[in-house]
Amino acid sequence: MQRKILFNVNGNDEIINRRMIKGNVTNLFNLNNVKYQWANKLYRLMMENFWIPEKVSLFDDKRAYNELTPAEQNAYDGILSFLVFLDSIQTNNLPNISDYITAPEVNLILAIQTYQEAVHSQSYAYIIESIIPAEKRAFIYDRWREDKVLLERNKYIAEIYQDFIDERNDKNFARVLIANFLLEGVYFYNGFNFFYNLAARSLMIGTADEIKYINRDELTHCVIFANIIKEIRKEHSTFFSDDEIHEMFARAVEQEITWSNHIIGDNVMGITSETIEKYTKYIANKRLRDIGMPPLFEGYDVNPYQHLEKISDTNGEGNVKGNFFEANVSSYNQSTAVEGWDEI
Ligand SMILES: [Fe+2]
Ligand SMILES: [Fe+2]
Repeated sequence: MQRKILFNVNGNDEIINRRMIKGNVTNLFNLNNVKYQWANKLYRLMMENFWIPEKVSLFDDKRAYNELTPAEQNAYDGILSFLVFLDSIQTNNLPNISDYITAPEVNLILAIQTYQEAVHSQSYAYIIESIIPAEKRAFIYDRWREDKVLLERNKYIAEIYQDFIDERNDKNFARVLIANFLLEGVYFYNGFNFFYNLAARSLMIGTADEIKYINRDELTHCVIFANIIKEIRKEHSTFFSDDEIHEMFARAVEQEITWSNHIIGDNVMGITSETIEKYTKYIANKRLRDIGMPPLFEGYDVNPYQHLEKISDTNGEGNVKGNFFEANVSSYNQSTAVEGWDEI
């Protein structure tokens, strides 16, 4: 694949010529002329979702952390370790993707996504510093050095991203896009549900509030990649291999279940190895439908954690998970100074 020319004097920005990849744009941000209208809507929604981690008080969580069982503490720490990895690699890798996307309106929201991933990294630092005892903090970042299951899955994602950096061909880029979609749409969610599950028992409420903000951002990222994939499938019918997408989904689901059993298993009230499997296959099926593909796991169409949706507050009216394109400002936005976005 050809990396974009920074200022392409031979480019043509007319909408009719615009393509998600392999287009020929000047790379000026002419945002009055936009082909992919969903990107404009997402831009507004993402800006509206602005938040600051330190505005959430974690004071009570410090005490509540000591009341968790050893298994719950281990899961809490381990999930943070994985989240730290996911957001780190996203912040670092998104610009590599943007270099090959030839729709300025999409480059713009990828830049916002990159900044949001950086905020997420900052929120983990804030959580770790506020809650985790000093002697355990370094281990949250270094756990992958000792935990083979964590290392395995971190490496799986990193290698797909690295392959494209090393060899910039269509096949590797297609895999990067699917891996991103899996990361944003599947990998986070067993971890998120662990925190919502604690909050349902009135434990670690501040952490759950932080996670809600992160969850809300991740859902918009998931929509970005679903839309990028759908547009490329329309414009280049052979760019993706359906078999390969299904294969990557199957592998991701297997790793997600192995990891969640390893770090949570049957040791935390409200979560069992059965709910982990049901949830992971349910969310994978849902994401496949989101990109217009048939589901992979027959009979996994019900969310076993439906009762947690009230807590996660991401399924109600005015939210991306409910109906993204009709979404209004959600109840927990911090950017009240910004007005005039209500029509989104
Ligand atoms: Fe993130
Ligand atoms: Fe993300």
